[in-house]
Amino acid sequence: MRTQVGIIGAGPAGLMLSHLLHLQGIDSVIIERKTREKIETTIRAGVLEHGTQELMKNTGIGDRMMEYGEPHNGVVFQFNGKRHRIDFSKLTDGKQITVYPQHEVLKDLIAARLDAEGTIFFGAENVSLHDICENEPKIHFEHNGESHELVCDFIAGCDGYHGPSRKAIPSKVLKEHTFHHPFGWLGVLAKAPQANDELIYAHHEKGFALLSTRTPEVQRYYLQVDPSDHVDNWSDKRIWSELHERVDLDDWKLEEGSIFQKDIVSMKSYICETMQYGNLFIAGDAAHIVPPTGAKGLNLAIGDVQALSMGLSAYYENGNTKLLDSYSETCLKKVWKAQRFASQMTNMLHYNESVSDFEYGVQLSELEYISSSAAASTTIAENYADLTVEASAVMESYLR
Ligand code: PHB
Repeated sequence: MRTQVGIIGAGPAGLMLSHLLHLQGIDSVIIERKTREKIETTIRAGVLEHGTQELMKNTGIGDRMMEYGEPHNGVVFQFNGKRHRIDFSKLTDGKQITVYPQHEVLKDLIAARLDAEGTIFFGAENVSLHDICENEPKIHFEHNGESHELVCDFIAGCDGYHGPSRKAIPSKVLKEHTFHHPFGWLGVLAKAPQANDELIYAHHEKGFALLSTRTPEVQRYYLQVDPSDHVDNWSDKRIWSELHERVDLDDWKLEEGSIFQKDIVSMKSYICETMQYGNLFIAGDAAHIVPPTGAKGLNLAIGDVQALSMGLSAYYENGNTKLLDSYSETCLKKVWKAQRFASQMTNMLHYNESVSDFEYGVQLSELEYISSSAAASTTIAENYADLTVEASAVMESYLR
């Protein structure tokens, strides 16, 4: 089998890359470990920033997002028993975020690829990369009990933090940074009425809490917990009681519902600065992990493959490798910006015994500042709503 770009992973990065390449007449094949059903039903992140929405709309996969996604014009910070709203639309010239679950984005992308007769091998096993520094790198994998070799011009490693792509880069050239934030998030999905029109980030002495949503009927709530904690320690009763304590106000009480999923996510920052090696390019979680506080993971993945698709397009059009050569540099600027924002949000909002009285004072003062200063709230708004994906990035090139 031969293709121009062999893509490992059918997450947001791999599928969007394949879609963007197709619009530019470039052939790709996707190899994915999970089944289509598993991908389309695993509930993960859900906040699309401005550029991601624009990219989806402008490349013909935005219809369901526009119909079912929920546009939010701002977010709310809650601290000291009061709420303060940051108005994105007002502070960023009309930009907004859309809450549209990641697995719905994936459904839209899979449908678009299959409609265009794109090839996706779901349920592939024993995926490995070969000859990544040669002219014809190869991906070996097994599918339905048969062994395959895919010969490519380039390989895009979009296979997440644990996938084989980054591991194919020799460790002596890898430049990596890891930072463990001393917090974890217990995430729950509950059938319950929506708590608020916009997301609520709550700072509280018992720890941070976040009220987010998936659909009008299904809500996504998070509680800061110890990263080594286990969901078995969290009965539904304990979760509701802790949520009430952290988010209820004198005149407002969170409505309870039935919890049907619980998980604990750790708060890790990771950056692999070696995003290119030979003819291998890595993108999304394969190259970086941001703590979820800034809601940037999915958007960063989309930003990476937007840059990669433009580089590949320039290469196939006239052999120009300038954009491909600067792929790592282009992406890393955004990755560090997203890490900075996620760290700011994380440090400002979380509280436990590792936070000193001094840091607690600084947190409250920072929350006061972003709620009262136009300059500071604009900074939050532009980072939250419009950081990682170039809404205007030569869209015509996708549509030619
Ligand atoms: C989510 O809905 O899962 C979500 C929203 C905002 C965040 C993190 C996660 O900052």
